[in-house]
Amino acid sequence: MISFTLNGRVRQVDAEPDKPLLWVLREDLNIVGPKFGCGVAACGACTVHVEDQPVRSCSMAVGDVAGKSVITIEGLSGSGGDGGLHVVQRAWIESQVPQCGYCQPGFIMAAVALLKANPKPSDRDIDDALSNICRCGTYSAIRRAVHRAAAILGGAP
Ligand code: FES
Ligand code: FES
Repeated sequence: MISFTLNGRVRQVDAEPDKPLLWVLREDLNIVGPKFGCGVAACGACTVHVEDQPVRSCSMAVGDVAGKSVITIEGLSGSGGDGGLHVVQRAWIESQVPQCGYCQPGFIMAAVALLKANPKPSDRDIDDALSNICRCGTYSAIRRAVHRAAAILGGAP
């Protein structure tokens, strides 16, 4: 049994320690916000937070999160925004970012981590931190949304 905290709740899973965290989340715990895109830590669709740091869950063994805290997109709602949404999720909606939406949970998790570390990122900071891939090409809308989230966090209405 491997035990870790998932979105604030202690969970135990009967999984091989080398099973990727992404598949434990999706297959064993029915947490399907993190997506499979590449499986080799390249696209970022599977991004979650482990101990508040963004990680690519396709390439992290579940054994490595034993005893740690894991947050997925499902755990962001209600954690500091209006209407149950996180500020970054609100900014994403206001900025009309998603196209097909597949990559967006990973981008949002990466953006939340970026804004915690850097409350006023430049376009360059955003491009450097959000190395995820969007096949729909929403990159400029993502930059807009991150700036909007930074403004809201800074006190803008
Ligand atoms: S699925 Fe994990 S980085 Fe692409
Ligand atoms: S919105 Fe479609 S892949 Fe990013």
